[in-house]
Amino acid sequence: MKKTAMFAAAFALALGMGFTVNAMADNGPADLILQATVDAAAKPKPATFPHAKHQAMLTCADCHHGKDAAGKQVAFVEGQKIEKCESCHNAAAGMDKNIATFKDAAHTKCKGCHTEKKAGPTKCNECHK
Ligand code: HEC
Ligand code: HEC
Ligand code: HEC
Ligand code: HEC
Repeated sequence: MKKTAMFAAAFALALGMGFTVNAMADNGPADLILQATVDAAAKPKPATFPHAKHQAMLTCADCHHGKDAAGKQVAFVEGQKIEKCESCHNAAAGMDKNIATFKDAAHTKCKGCHTEKKAGPTKCNECHK
């Protein structure tokens, strides 16, 4: 009886910890400094990105997606492996001009939403501090 209760408690603890660790790991960093490395400009221009702040007001699928074998975009589903933008959006991959590099994909995605929602920075030095 006592043993069962202890086992149950230990199991619940392990389960709870497992969930906590997963939830933290899956969300990625709370704040990011984004910097292109594959097609980096001669003069690096890191961009500040408050990731957690965006997660609080948007869904993961608003930004993250995958790619299928044919090279078509795959919508984000929970648990999907999240890769760096530039692992797909790089000059060698030959994507459309507005998403051809990390810079292009980021400008399209980030500035696009800020412009559309009339909220969030659209001036260069507001992201590139
Ligand atoms: C909403 C935020 C945002 C705004 C506004 C913005 N950028 Fe960016 N920019 C980014 C992100 C994110 C990247 C990709 C990561 C990186 O390399 O900085 C990027 C990349 C770049 C790069 C490539 C940098 C590198 O190191 O390879 C250049 C150059 C650049 N931006 C110039 C500009 C200019 C000029 C403006 C204004 C006309 C501007 N950006 C406005 C977010 C922004
Ligand atoms: C407003 C856009 C946006 C939203 C919303 C967003 N993310 Fe991100 N996330 C990014 C960007 C940009 C990066 C940096 C990618 C890079 O370095 O190329 C990133 C990075 C990550 C990483 C780290 C990936 C790596 O290996 O470097 C994880 C994990 C992650 N996000 C999970 C999530 C989850 C889970 C959600 C939803 C709860 C979410 N993100 C919502 C834009 C977003
Ligand atoms: C696993 C590969 C992959 C990753 C990682 C990836 N993308 Fe994409 N992305 C694609 C594909 C494929 C398309 C569709 C291209 C087409 O239809 O020509 C696309 C389309 C886009 C588009 C245009 C359509 C739309 O949904 O607005 C933008 C903007 C974009 N990606 C930004 C990003 C950003 C920002 C990141 C990182 C947070 C990212 N992508 C990560 C593969 C990827
Ligand atoms: C789908 C919409 C959406 C996307 C995509 C998005 N943002 Fe934003 N972002 C917002 C909104 C809305 C705000 C304004 C939040 C506020 O004022 O409280 C904002 C605010 C910001 C701010 C200012 C934060 C502050 O504390 O004042 C920065 C910096 C920023 N975004 C960078 C980025 C970068 C870099 C990306 C691309 C990697 C990006 N955002 C993608 C919607 C978006």
